Amino acid sequence: MIVDQAAMLREIKKKEKHLNNQEGALVATGAYAMRHHDIRVISVTSGKGGVGKTNITANLAYLLAGQKKRTLVLDADAGLANIDVVLGINSPYNLYHVLNGEKTLSEAIISGPRGIKILPSASGIPEMAELSRGQKLTLIDELNTLNDSLDFMLIDTSAGISSNVMYFNMAAKEIIVVTTPEPTAMTDAYALIKVLYQRHAKRRFRMIVNMVKSANEAREIYSRLSNATDHFLNLTIEYLGYIVLDDKVRESVRQQKLVAELHPECPAVKCLTKISEKISAETLEEYENGSIKFFWENIIDKSRA
Ligand SMILES: Nc1ncnc2c1ncn2[C@@H]1O[C@H](COP(=O)(O)OP(=O)(O)OP(=O)(O)O)[C@@H](O)[C@H]1O
Ligand SMILES: [Mg+2]
Repeated sequence: MIVDQAAMLREIKKKEKHLNNQEGALVATGAYAMRHHDIRVISVTSGKGGVGKTNITANLAYLLAGQKKRTLVLDADAGLANIDVVLGINSPYNLYHVLNGEKTLSEAIISGPRGIKILPSASGIPEMAELSRGQKLTLIDELNTLNDSLDFMLIDTSAGISSNVMYFNMAAKEIIVVTTPEPTAMTDAYALIKVLYQRHAKRRFRMIVNMVKSANEAREIYSRLSNATDHFLNLTIEYLGYIVLDDKVRESVRQQKLVAELHPECPAVKCLTKISEKISAETLEEYENGSIKFFWENIIDKSRA
């Protein structure tokens, strides 16, 4: 893809100027704190790949939409098999075009079932930490336009501890760690939590145990992990829920449809529904720091560092 560097720089400069004015005006009027109080930003992350993040994120968005919660999925994974593939949707534009100022967010966002919004990722997206202040401001400016139209922003991250994973987890504050009973998935989940806690001062983690045979097995996996974080990190992680191993999930992925849409009564969807209800029943005050205001401030702060 050929990007006109000069045009891109001009666009970034324009945005930067505009945003500086906007920040000043918001601080002056005190409107800043009030404007962003109602969006919860939640990252769905894991140490090991293939544990079910993308499926969980997409289906949770769909189930939250069923509870009248307007939800955007930000695909922050530059790998393959992403949200758009899971949903069988093609999009010509993605985060890359937004960051370059080539497209607005609303031009890049696509609609999925039940009107969920999806901002697709691209293999070309740079590491967030390497973005210029202008590019970050572009993203913030664009996200700003969504403020009144969303209740939740779910971020589907890549697996592991790369800087992009750290970046999106840092910005989100509300972090859901997904693991399976597989020993490597558990040890990698532990390693991810450890890095986020020790290097990035994250204190609150909630866990989903996916692909289990029973609720008891999930509890057992959660106990082992939380005992380890308690013991070695002096950190308690919270239990959010479990999802049973269910062939209907794989079958739906093959059909490029959400399992929650195709098989609303199957065991995995019953588990996902419980999790979505738990999330939406929480009040925002419990997660004040997970709001989109925090997300934006973090992006700006990091660009000043
Ligand atoms: N509860 C489940 N039961 C059966 N299969 C599942 C379940 N959850 C996920 N899967 C399957 O596991 C595979 C990996 O899922 P998914 O792509 O969502 O994982 P991921 O964590 O996003 O992977 P990556 O790290 O590569 O992005 C898919 O084929 C999916 O269908
Ligand atoms: Mg994925």
